Amino acid sequence: CILKCVEHQYCQQDASLEFPKGFLWGASTSAHQVEGGNTNDWSEWEKKNAQRLASEAAARFGTLPNWKDISQEASNPDNYISGLACDHYRRFKDDFALAKKLGHNATRFSIEWSRVEPEEGVFDTSAIDHYREVLQTCRANGLKPFVTLWHWSTPLWISQSGGWENPRTIEKFLKYTERLADEYKDLIKFWMPLNEPGTYVGMSYIQGAFPPQKRLALFSANRVFKNLMKAHRGAYRTIHQKVPDACVGLSHYAVFMRASRESFWNKRLIQILDYYRNWRFLDSVDDANDFIGIQYYHADVITFMPRMNGRWGFIDAKSAGSWTTDMGWDVVPEGMYYLLKRVAAYRKPIYITENGIAARNDRARERFIRENLRDVLQAVTEGVDVRGYFYWSLLDNFEWDKGFWPRFGLVEIDFKTMERKPRSSAYAYQKIIAQNSL
Ligand code: BGC
Repeated sequence: CILKCVEHQYCQQDASLEFPKGFLWGASTSAHQVEGGNTNDWSEWEKKNAQRLASEAAARFGTLPNWKDISQEASNPDNYISGLACDHYRRFKDDFALAKKLGHNATRFSIEWSRVEPEEGVFDTSAIDHYREVLQTCRANGLKPFVTLWHWSTPLWISQSGGWENPRTIEKFLKYTERLADEYKDLIKFWMPLNEPGTYVGMSYIQGAFPPQKRLALFSANRVFKNLMKAHRGAYRTIHQKVPDACVGLSHYAVFMRASRESFWNKRLIQILDYYRNWRFLDSVDDANDFIGIQYYHADVITFMPRMNGRWGFIDAKSAGSWTTDMGWDVVPEGMYYLLKRVAAYRKPIYITENGIAARNDRARERFIRENLRDVLQAVTEGVDVRGYFYWSLLDNFEWDKGFWPRFGLVEIDFKTMERKPRSSAYAYQKIIAQNSL
């Protein structure tokens, strides 16, 4: 009975609340995850690691509740090769037309550096023309583009010369940025030079799961962090020189953390992790952000371990298991509210540039969107300046070292025929957009 009352209260509350006028609604993608046919550090890494990833699947995912549904795909080496991905490079017109049909008025995607500059200093004009057509297509479909310039994949000539550990990568990235700013100054207002530098540092230099797969390489991680921050600042300046009225923002992955037990050490640990995982990046580029892009997915339950057997040595991070995604991530929508309230302290407009769930059961996606948006709305009602929301992702896609089995899309893809089919959550989202309220 109590639960029913609470539910009822929520419904009452939902019905009366509205998002601000002019709120941007859309979905995000990234080049390597959807385009297909890329040649970059990831495509090379996939070839070398697909077999290993397939044979490790049972050990990595065997305890997930839905293991039996995914085991076949996850144990197949082909799952780990991005290959044609969603063939979005050729089908982008259909995909943006679909986004428009689903009510979106904005979209976020990334430009693939390895296509635009396949060799150092050699810019491929056909790739540049391609992305111009992509931008024109967005405009024709009434979709305001938010454009990321680097979403984790790098040209081979960059990775072969040390990637982001090499400080020279900064000036190379800035030349690429300058060229894009020259080419697209009339077409892009919202620029996001880097996608989630924190996740990149964590996955590539701490966990060692993504290329270049360095594990607990703390010095390298710190160097990469600093180089990425310099790259962001430099890109901020470069873009503003070319496009004075541009809005440039960092996309930042924020994690909501709770202690497994209220002990002295766990509390201290959360404070430290919260700073390193959540706020260090934003603090260090505060003067080079016109807006902040928050990407929120999951919460971690943190425990201080007596022995080095946690996820990061002495530190363990696990999901609480109350509501987990197909990937075992803990879903805690109220974390969205907490993070937004905290980000408001930077006094910048906020866009939620990613928020999504891997779910084969589409009803979970609908619930996820609604519950996260309820927390967004709560923050907005309390004065937090949130101006847009982008669900991750428009399409089912290539989920990095997990391959294709996690399904994030509002639109389902049959990877054999490339047929696109909007899920019922896409229509539920469409309804929210049309009403601009829950
Ligand atoms: C990344 C995406 C990724 C998503 C789900 C985000 O952190 O930007 O590339 O697919 O998380 O894991």
